[in-house]
Amino acid sequence: MKENFITLGIETSCDETSVSVVQDGRKILSNAIFSQIKQHAKFGGVVPEIASRQHLEAISHVTQKSLEDAKISFDDVDLIAVTHGPGLVGALLVGVSYAKGLAYALNKPLVGVNHIEGHIFANFLETDFTPLFLCLVVSGSHSHLIHVNNYGNYEVMGKTVDDAAGEAFDKVARALGLGYPGGPLIDKYAKQGDETAIPFPVAHFKEGDLSFSFSGIKSAVLNYLNHQRQKGLPIIVEDVAASFQKAVVDALVENTLKAAEMKKVKTIALAGGVAANSRLREELSSRAGTDFNVQYPPMILCTDNAAMIACAGYYRYIIGNEADMTLNAYANLKLF
Ligand code: KG4
Ligand code: ZN
Repeated sequence: MKENFITLGIETSCDETSVSVVQDGRKILSNAIFSQIKQHAKFGGVVPEIASRQHLEAISHVTQKSLEDAKISFDDVDLIAVTHGPGLVGALLVGVSYAKGLAYALNKPLVGVNHIEGHIFANFLETDFTPLFLCLVVSGSHSHLIHVNNYGNYEVMGKTVDDAAGEAFDKVARALGLGYPGGPLIDKYAKQGDETAIPFPVAHFKEGDLSFSFSGIKSAVLNYLNHQRQKGLPIIVEDVAASFQKAVVDALVENTLKAAEMKKVKTIALAGGVAANSRLREELSSRAGTDFNVQYPPMILCTDNAAMIACAGYYRYIIGNEADMTLNAYANLKLF
């Protein structure tokens, strides 16, 4: 691989249009992110049709901004990497079509990246971190425990059987009237609350099963809120947020530590939007103690961004995973 190898990453799987320029797989030269949160907030969640239209309107401006920020031109790009799933299919198609158009017009190689793999690779940006490690990927649509043997070599050790962790944060925040996206707001309110105030239940699985389940706790919060309202009792938003967050964090941390012990790894990494949660970072680090190193990306690289896609694309390209013009978008793309 030549030095100063430039990857242009493109991410449009949900409600962020992002284009990034990454040098030699890990050095971020630019990471332009156009968030559509304002457009979706009034509906309480992402509206797929609006997301596709917004991506379409933004993609070439965001690309231009990313190139300008990195002080390069299209001619300097060596590889184009694009998220092709999982995600909203209409949204993904905007990025995939744009990337294919660029690759064809510029005569540059193209790589399709799995969004979940991208989240894992956010841990490599601006660091010299390398596999092997255990990764807890927690986002708005995924809660996966993944043993990362090597670049592109994964074993899923556990995942959610119903809602994703981020989905539970978003639904509980909505029930509390906090707005969208709920995760950062629950995180904020929980800081002022008592996390032992309400003992919300966490689903437990049989010994050795590392699955997660978050729909039960979401229902428990909704039932609690209904009960309080019906009886005319007070609802202390901060306490509900803190107690709910504690239950989710405990479940995530418990399984993560068990998986790390089972695999005898030295390092645990966090990835995905929920990895931005301050309580999760704190609790995992404290319970890992000196047994494990805990690693997580900076906040801005936890939520959706194209730098992580460029990084994952670079490593995919190295192992010979070049795509052609038949590259398509898949809403339910599997990791392997
Ligand atoms: O990875 P991401 O940006 O998009 C997906 O791939 O889904 O994750 C978004 C999710 C949302 O559910 C959001 O509420 C959650 O990550 N999130 C958080 C925090 N920041 C974002 N959840 C808990 N605490 C946070 N600080
Ligand atoms: Zn994501």
